[in-house]
Amino acid sequence: MSDTRAIEHPIWLMNGDSAPSTEPFRLFAEWFAQAKQVEPTDPDAMALATVDADGLPNCRMVLLKDFDERGFVFYTNLDSAKGKELRATPLAALVFHWKSLQRQVRLRGQVEPVTSEEADAYFASRARLSQIGAWASKQSAALESRFALEQACARYAAKFALGSVPRPENWSGFRLVPTVIEFWQDQPFRLHHRVEYRRASPRAAWTKTRLYP
Ligand SMILES: Cc1cc2nc3c(=O)[nH]c(=O)nc-3n(C[C@H](O)[C@H](O)[C@H](O)COP(=O)(O)O)c2cc1C
Repeated sequence: MSDTRAIEHPIWLMNGDSAPSTEPFRLFAEWFAQAKQVEPTDPDAMALATVDADGLPNCRMVLLKDFDERGFVFYTNLDSAKGKELRATPLAALVFHWKSLQRQVRLRGQVEPVTSEEADAYFASRARLSQIGAWASKQSAALESRFALEQACARYAAKFALGSVPRPENWSGFRLVPTVIEFWQDQPFRLHHRVEYRRASPRAAWTKTRLYP
C-alpha cells in the first residue's frame, strides 16, 4: 500500500476563509472515489450518531447510498432505534474512517426524510432476499429466537412469491444536510491536517478553517 501521508493534497495548500458551495462536496467525491479503490471492504460505511429521548447519544454503522450537494443518504427501518430517534430529533452526525488512506471525514447537520420516489427506487434495486428481510425484520425490537426471524422471512417470501416486492411503509431513507464537514488526513507525529467547512444554514456560504490537530 502506498504511503498517502507523504502526498500533499491541494486541500491543505488552500488558505482562503470562504469557499464555493460545491467545494467540500467535490473533495468528498474525490476522497470517496479513492477510498473505493483501496479499502478492502465497505468504503461506504459510516458511523451515524443520533440522540435518544433522554439526550443520550447513540451510534451505529450505516451505508452511504447516495450523496450530492443536497446531502448524504442512508436507508433504514423507520421504527428502529435510529428511525425513532431521527424522527423525534432530526439532527445527526456521520463519520467515515478510511483506514487504508488514513483519512477521516466528519459531517454534522439536520436530517430530512428522502422522498417516497427515492426510497422506492432504491428499495427496488435491492436483492429480493434483502427486500423480504426488510419486511421480516422488526429492526431493534426484541427477537425471541432466530427461528422466529426465519419463519417471518418464509412467510413474506410466500406472500410476495409472485411479482415485485413492494417497499414496506416503515422502511425508507434519511438525508443528512451538512452544515459542518471536516476533512482529516494523518500526518507524521500526530501533526495531522484538519480542515473544517462550516455554514450557518444549508443556503449559506461555507467558511473554511484550518484546525489544530
Ligand atoms: C458496515 C455496516 C453497515 C450497516 N449498514 C446499515 C444500513 O445501511 N442501514 C441499517 O439500518 N443498518 C445498517 N447496519 C446495522 C446497524 O449498524 C444497526 O445494527 C441497525 O441498523 C440497528 O441500529 P439501531 O438499533 O440503532 O436502529 C450496518 C452495520 C454495519 C456493521
